[in-house]
Amino acid sequence: MKKTFRTILAAVVALAGTVTAKADEGMWLPSLISQRIADMQEKGFRLDADDIYNINQASLKDAVVLFGRGCTGELVSGEGLLLTNHHCGYSQIQQHSSVEHDYLRDGFWAMSRDEELPNKGLSVSFLDRMEDVTSVILNGYDPNMTEEERVALVKKNSSALIEETTKAGNGLRATVEALYYGNQYFLFVYREYNDVRLVGAPPSSIGKFGGDTDNWMWPRHTGDFSMFRIYADKDNNPAPYSKDNVPYKPKKFFRISTAGVQEGDFTFIYGFPGSTKEYMHSEGVRYIEELGDPHKIALRTLRLDIMNRHQGQSQKVRIQYSSKNANVSNAWKKWQGEVKGIRKMKTVATKQEYEKAFASWAKGTEYEGLIEKIAALYEELEPYAFATDYYSETVRTIELANFAMSMARLFVIKDDVMSFDKTRAAELAESFYKDWYQPIDQESFAAVMTQYEKNVPEEFKPAYYKAQMEKYGNAQAWADDMFGTSLFTDKAKVSELTAEDKDQVFADPAFVFFNEFLKWYSADVQPQTTRLNRELDLAYRDYMRGQMDFAEATDGPAGREAFYPDANLTLRVAYGHIKGYSPADGVYYTPSSTIKGIMEKDNPDIFDYNIPQRLRDIYAQKDYGRWADASGEVPVCFIATNHTTGGNSGSPVINADGDLIGLNFDRVWEGTMSDIVFDPEICRNIALDVRYVLFTIEKIGGAEYLFNEMVFAE
Ligand code: ARG
Ligand code: GLU
Repeated sequence: MKKTFRTILAAVVALAGTVTAKADEGMWLPSLISQRIADMQEKGFRLDADDIYNINQASLKDAVVLFGRGCTGELVSGEGLLLTNHHCGYSQIQQHSSVEHDYLRDGFWAMSRDEELPNKGLSVSFLDRMEDVTSVILNGYDPNMTEEERVALVKKNSSALIEETTKAGNGLRATVEALYYGNQYFLFVYREYNDVRLVGAPPSSIGKFGGDTDNWMWPRHTGDFSMFRIYADKDNNPAPYSKDNVPYKPKKFFRISTAGVQEGDFTFIYGFPGSTKEYMHSEGVRYIEELGDPHKIALRTLRLDIMNRHQGQSQKVRIQYSSKNANVSNAWKKWQGEVKGIRKMKTVATKQEYEKAFASWAKGTEYEGLIEKIAALYEELEPYAFATDYYSETVRTIELANFAMSMARLFVIKDDVMSFDKTRAAELAESFYKDWYQPIDQESFAAVMTQYEKNVPEEFKPAYYKAQMEKYGNAQAWADDMFGTSLFTDKAKVSELTAEDKDQVFADPAFVFFNEFLKWYSADVQPQTTRLNRELDLAYRDYMRGQMDFAEATDGPAGREAFYPDANLTLRVAYGHIKGYSPADGVYYTPSSTIKGIMEKDNPDIFDYNIPQRLRDIYAQKDYGRWADASGEVPVCFIATNHTTGGNSGSPVINADGDLIGLNFDRVWEGTMSDIVFDPEICRNIALDVRYVLFTIEKIGGAEYLFNEMVFAE
């Protein structure tokens, strides 16, 4: 029996609302939070749904922003002051850094408003409202349509709606997002501000304390925060940077609680989680566990070894590659935890069990055969998915080749005449050469392309590639020749390029490398992955509804009791409580860390653990001011059971009264499989205690003047 859309939607909403989640799993839509509020209150929350999300009056949502396009931030004053993570502001801090003013190393604090530093390309977005627009987006849909036709319809209706929604301009930005694999569509309307200035950041020895060694780990002692200020025009509207802009006046900002946190306390995270796949078929998980993650990890290990070696030898290279290294390393480490977690949870086997039960229940329903169909699609997709993963982690990571391609794109034919945008070229060249170190790129080329030769099946080796390997014999010789002859290694030559040089650029080995692979990928891989992913999307749309119907029909089957839409960088609420965990037999971790742990890790000989002398002195004298907790130490981090993912970095961690107690910045390594499967025993988010933020501002930064604009809870 085919259901009408209305009943499907009713089911979606009802299931999200009425079935109680047994654990703290879930990333809930703020506009529907009234469906969860009873559970939240039962777990300790003392406010109402209206305090979280309300479009008619100020609510907590007005104090939360999407920071850039991948982090969260929160307002902490009536004058546009914003907190986010150090790693979220990292590239801005780096941009303002040089060997003479190394703000990454030494930290930065504006001591007055005019010392705040503007940032090109940085924006923050406030969510104005969100609304279910399924019927608008599917207007004109007919069940006999192909998936291609449906995709086109959704696109057309979405564009029209977005255009209509944002026509008033004034910083309005809108997106339409599919929820539950397109069983539902939501419109998100934002106001985007582009004048966002850096106010302060601790030195990396605090903000990135423990570096990539401690990243994704508990116990943790990282002071991962930075501060910015949003500026607006005199009417409080978004405006491009101007020295006449004034601090933005938010509708709402967080009051800060310094009362401290205890195990068992209710916590709630409000932010923008990026992406999860909680309803994935076992075959999708198996691919990640057995092929995708392991190969990506191995390739990144090679690149990281090269970067680390060169960064260790020069301060200049260390700064140049700090942000790049952190990005490569972050996912590299996460994937390792994820694979371990999936294995430990036996996720593939558990899902297979569930799928068996689903398949037998599905007999005679519209879902019959669905499990098998998805498995067959994954089987067909696998070689292409592997080729895609390999291509993105090898060819696409070569900086010189990426740069050559972006320069080549500046040659365009205008009125039958070849033109070359010299201004844009100069900008691109400037930002490329500032942070490029040839030995790293060249050695990486040799390393990853050697793996390409070893691990990619013959049918996914482009003819161009084979010819090069034939010619050079190995990737090392190929790398040496390419980097030895490409004009793009020479900044002076690049600065002299004109429209006349098109032929030379298009014959350059770095360009040819990128371009030949791109042509091959676009012709031989992408069409297949697109087609198969479309078919998978369609099947998943049914499977998602099927899982809900199955739950309803069987009264909460093995597996899942509550349904929330997978994360897609839209605003969500996750709630839970502060709690320790046991990562392994015989080990138990308590949920909070203090400055004592920093001193235990302190080591002047190891870059990542070499704290500022100032911090050592403060510790020696116990000069903690008002920031010590009951034990007499300064609290640093804590963990809780909130379900979070990448994008939740910088999210406010909120207590039962709606006050700010911390900033989310990570998850524990053993729990990083929570993007696929959540284990309430193990999955923990890691937050920075707001008291350590305040301590650092005052005692390390000497910028306690900022406290004057904050509001503290009694
Ligand atoms: N693991 C955190 C997140 O996923 C922090 C990343 C930045 N820190 C680092 N050491 N790379 O984004
Ligand atoms: N550090 C992550 C971020 O940048 C948050 C950690 C996670 O993936 O949960 O969003």
